[in-house]
Amino acid sequence: MRILVAGGAGYIGSHICVELLEAGYEVVVIDDFSNSRPEVLGYIKEITGKDVKFYEFNILDEEKTEGVFKENKLDAVIHCAAFKAVGESVSKPIEYYTNNLMTTLIMTKMMTKYHVNNIVFSSSATVYGDPKVVPLTENCPLGETTNPYGTSKAMMERILTDVQFANPEMSVTLLRYFNPIGAHASGLIGENPKGIPNNLMPYIMKVATGELPCLGVFGDDYDTPDGTGVRDYIHVVDLAKGHVLAIEKYQEPGVHICNLGTGTGYSVLDIVHAFEKVNGIEVKYEIKPRRPGDIATCYADPTRAKEELGWVAEKTLEDMCRDTWNFAKKHQ
Ligand code: UFG
Repeated sequence: MRILVAGGAGYIGSHICVELLEAGYEVVVIDDFSNSRPEVLGYIKEITGKDVKFYEFNILDEEKTEGVFKENKLDAVIHCAAFKAVGESVSKPIEYYTNNLMTTLIMTKMMTKYHVNNIVFSSSATVYGDPKVVPLTENCPLGETTNPYGTSKAMMERILTDVQFANPEMSVTLLRYFNPIGAHASGLIGENPKGIPNNLMPYIMKVATGELPCLGVFGDDYDTPDGTGVRDYIHVVDLAKGHVLAIEKYQEPGVHICNLGTGTGYSVLDIVHAFEKVNGIEVKYEIKPRRPGDIATCYADPTRAKEELGWVAEKTLEDMCRDTWNFAKKHQ
């Protein structure tokens, strides 16, 4: 089977490519390197011993996207090409909506035209908004999103659902990721954002390497055990494996929705202390005001993933911290 991974050079996309190649799939990648680096393709080869077929452009280029569908007999698409910085999306809503929505429209247009009937979409727990109850099941109502990035994810889910309704032979899978962190055990691929990181783990990593002086902990007065925000951190390799299973198990026509999380919540300070303990390195931090739009607690009920995909997160918080640092040391 040949799978197109849109955004396959990115943090999550590159790990998906590795797992697909190791499971015996052929992989075609489109990426414009807007938040990724060309050397990642070499690392994927180093890990798996296999090449992906690579195209460098933005999917907004409809003609080039069509070219990929013409040149390759695709069996499925994994769509993880999107802008994803929450803060940036607030100041650049037009760019975010254009990029994230138009790429989804163009992708589904080509899928329809070339009869590619299976798409797995990188969605996010952000579509649940500020949850009334945790853990979050897939039946929890969608909440109000608080930034254009989150709203674009909710809209992309809607577009895909409507496209499936109009094309009943399609299988659309919406994978709602919780908080992916960690890196491949080889230390070759991982998260290395350009500029100052928005997310917790890359920020901790850059404080640990000395690139940044101090982590700001955004709020210690939430209604959580230690007052800092609680999230469901999931190892990116576990997340990537969930995609391979989704391609295999969700072939029935319809819209399939599935959380990918561990079911366990950790606070910001849990993560800081775990990182320090596992890696024997101090992470300086100071308490800062709450970050606008943040919620207190968010974690998954992963029952459906277990029942329908046979997927459970296998890696521990220690693995996530160790693998992040292993990656950081190799990429300083
Ligand atoms: N945090 C800090 N300091 C930082 C960065 C983050 O204290 O420098 C805290 C946040 O306040 C939050 C926690 O660490 O409590 C996690 O924050 P992240 O930015 O790492 O992740 P979020 O939970 O805010 O968002 C992530 C993804 C989004 C996705 C969302 C879904 O980045 O893309 O999970 O729940 F939408």
